[in-house]
Amino acid sequence: MENDVMDVSTLTLNNGVPMPRLGYGLFLTPPQDAAELVSEALRAGYRLIDTAAAYGNERGVGEAIRHSGLDRSEIFIETKVWISDFGYDETLHAFDKSATKLGVDPIDLLLLHQALPSHFDRTIDAYHALERLLDEGLVRAIGVSNFMAEHLDRLLAETSIVPAVNQLELPPYFHQAELRAKGEQLGIVSQGWSPIGGVINYEDTAFSSPLEDPVILDIADAHAKNPAQVVSRWHLQTGRSVIPKSTKPERIAQNFDVFDFKLTDVDITRIDALAASALRSCRQLSRATACGSSWRAAPSRPVQRGIDAARDLGSSNRPCRSRRQAAPRGQLVARWRRSCSRRL
Ligand code: A2P
Repeated sequence: MENDVMDVSTLTLNNGVPMPRLGYGLFLTPPQDAAELVSEALRAGYRLIDTAAAYGNERGVGEAIRHSGLDRSEIFIETKVWISDFGYDETLHAFDKSATKLGVDPIDLLLLHQALPSHFDRTIDAYHALERLLDEGLVRAIGVSNFMAEHLDRLLAETSIVPAVNQLELPPYFHQAELRAKGEQLGIVSQGWSPIGGVINYEDTAFSSPLEDPVILDIADAHAKNPAQVVSRWHLQTGRSVIPKSTKPERIAQNFDVFDFKLTDVDITRIDALAASALRSCRQLSRATACGSSWRAAPSRPVQRGIDAARDLGSSNRPCRSRRQAAPRGQLVARWRRSCSRRL
């Protein structure tokens, strides 16, 4: 792949629709801050904005877009249908609600926020509704989010349009190579949420934060860039779309400033290898019970319900849980999970 500016700024989805690769994500952004932060992102140059009904901030996104002075066609907007709206009619209604809040027509990309394994029939019905919206031109592309391999298999067996995107948790220490490879074979773009590693940290190991990782720092130094820019560039150069988020204007701008340098093949190999090293290190810890096998083993029904509700966080899919997330961001995440559980 050529790694010049154009090659990593845009990609083409499996139905021919072009999409900016680098977007601004609004997971955990308080509704009252959304308009200001999206305005900041648009000023910095972002043209892909990722929101979701469950984030509660679609209105702010719409407001920022209307006040941006940009032509609607210049901005790619994606949002997601939450699981409590799964089902055919329910999802059509959820689309109406999102379109009204965003105030845009059509929505560029509409995703199912996550699979609902305990009611997969409703997941299928919801996707059929997305297929209809696509057919009617009310959305330009459709896809999924946080779908694991088995969810993709079941979806593909019962529906006719291959998702354009699977939005996944993709920090450098957990970049889900197998699932991404499966997506690539199927023509599904992997889009990373939490791409620079804000959520996964392996406390008590050398892998406490990707942005402090010696390998990333070394590469950043060599390119006179900061660690977040190196990580985003690594995603973009290796074929992914990413939606890093920040609540700070200077970081929002920095995170978009990734089109003027290239990582070498060696840089990419070194970053690729971090996930396996981090997992090995995690498993060597005496608190091995925090690692994924026990977390994934036959959860009780209430736990499974929580997992279903929290799949947005990829938590059931993670190799290792972090204690570092306790506060304050962890509290935000926990609050978000609780509010989503209530909506089930
Ligand atoms: P903040 O909002 O204070 O900037 P991710 O999207 O991978 O989950 O990362 C988001 C987290 O990383 C947020 O906690 C955000 O905090 C932080 N972050 C975003 N951009 C940068 C950056 N350029 N340098 C350091 N931390 C960043």
